[in-house]
Amino acid sequence: MSIKVKGFLKDVGGASRVTKLREENFAKGSPIPDPHDPIRELADKLHPASMQVRCVDIREASPSSRTYRFESVDGHIPVFQCGQYVNFRLQIGESLLSRPYTICSAPYEARGEKPFFEVTIRRNVPYLVPDYFFENVRVGDVLEANLPFGTFYWEPLRDSRTIVALAGGSGITPFHGMAKEIAYGKMKGVRLTILYGSVKANDIVLKKELDELEAACPDIKVVHVLSDEPDWPGEKGFITKELIEKYSEGDVTYMFCGPLPMFRFVKKALDEMGVTCRRFRHDVVNNPADISTCPGYPKGTETKTFRITVVRGIQEDVIDAKASEPVAVALERAGIKINTHCRNGECGFCRSHLLSGEIFVSPVGDGRRRMDKEMGWFHACSSWPLSDLKIKIPIM
Ligand SMILES: Cc1cc2nc3c(=O)[nH]c(=O)nc-3n(C[C@H](O)[C@H](O)[C@H](O)COP(=O)(O)OP(=O)(O)OC[C@H]3O[C@@H](n4cnc5c(N)ncnc54)[C@H](O)[C@@H]3O)c2cc1C
Ligand code: FES
Repeated sequence: MSIKVKGFLKDVGGASRVTKLREENFAKGSPIPDPHDPIRELADKLHPASMQVRCVDIREASPSSRTYRFESVDGHIPVFQCGQYVNFRLQIGESLLSRPYTICSAPYEARGEKPFFEVTIRRNVPYLVPDYFFENVRVGDVLEANLPFGTFYWEPLRDSRTIVALAGGSGITPFHGMAKEIAYGKMKGVRLTILYGSVKANDIVLKKELDELEAACPDIKVVHVLSDEPDWPGEKGFITKELIEKYSEGDVTYMFCGPLPMFRFVKKALDEMGVTCRRFRHDVVNNPADISTCPGYPKGTETKTFRITVVRGIQEDVIDAKASEPVAVALERAGIKINTHCRNGECGFCRSHLLSGEIFVSPVGDGRRRMDKEMGWFHACSSWPLSDLKIKIPIM
């Protein structure tokens, strides 16, 4: 093995010169601290912790979903990748809450003359936040939001240029943005095949937009797979191993976004196909809609209600908490602010301290670090109370 002594000596020389320069600059500096930190200020400007966004357009994306377009009040939209999400902070009645929605427009549209981003919100069953958007949010309204968040995006250094996307329901949104960026933005040359599972033709979200993108760009193919539409001329049933294999060619990166039951089904198919973790990217899939179906959950507890003592600094509040809902939902219902982003146990923004009591954490995708588990930290968005609790949450 040869050692580059010359290079090494140069590095050492360089480092001591920089150290000396720093010492000289420190000696010349003012003893009064400068309140300005230009790097911090620039970072805050490019990625503000919170921003005001104005709704400028609302249109139908399917009989049960709507696309909302937002512009930033100050004109600046932070840089994001296809697949990342925006977090809206809302006050609904007494509740202070936040919900993530994947950005379904393309990054290039946020860099144009009139920068904007869009989200598509689905309301297929009565739901709190979709209801709020459908009934209350109008063109001209200003909402509080922050973006971008999330690690579900295509990364050229890691992923193949051939993508097979597996989507279900509103899980089409990241792939719609991706298809747009491939057709008109900076992802040119990436081939995207979307296998999109819906129950009926009416459930397909963004159908017209997907048809237009497919017609505009030869690198985009959309295959609708309908599970309950007997007269559908295309693919019918579920997105099975056979179907995935039929539309896969060469070295493929598979990307999944959809509900948890579909994830389990698709993951099994990909495992059988021998797809490695490296070639399978998926959105956070953790929280089941019904916690009592989760392996290890003590059946019967879900019908109970507990009390949570919430400590914030020197303040203590006692609130009710349904066993069937995560701790974060109990806090939001009680009007207590808790910082949530992914709401799936992944990002750690809602990290809180369990002082006493027992919680249940879904074993799928428990995003806590080992030390956090040992020291009693938990993620409020993906932990369910099993008894009365005493918890300490960050002050917001
Ligand atoms: C990363 C990510 C991206 C997403 N992207 C999209 C997307 O692009 N499009 C899309 O449509 N959805 C998307 N979702 C789902 C979305 O964030 C919401 O979960 C969904 O719209 C349902 O909202 P919800 O608040 O009604 O339901 P949940 O938060 O799932 O709550 C379930 C139900 O509990 C009750 N509840 C909860 N909190 C309260 C409260 N404070 N007061 C009273 N009742 C309450 C309500 O009955 C509510 O409907 C995404 C989710 C994640 C995690
Ligand atoms: S909001 Fe991301 S871990 Fe709880």
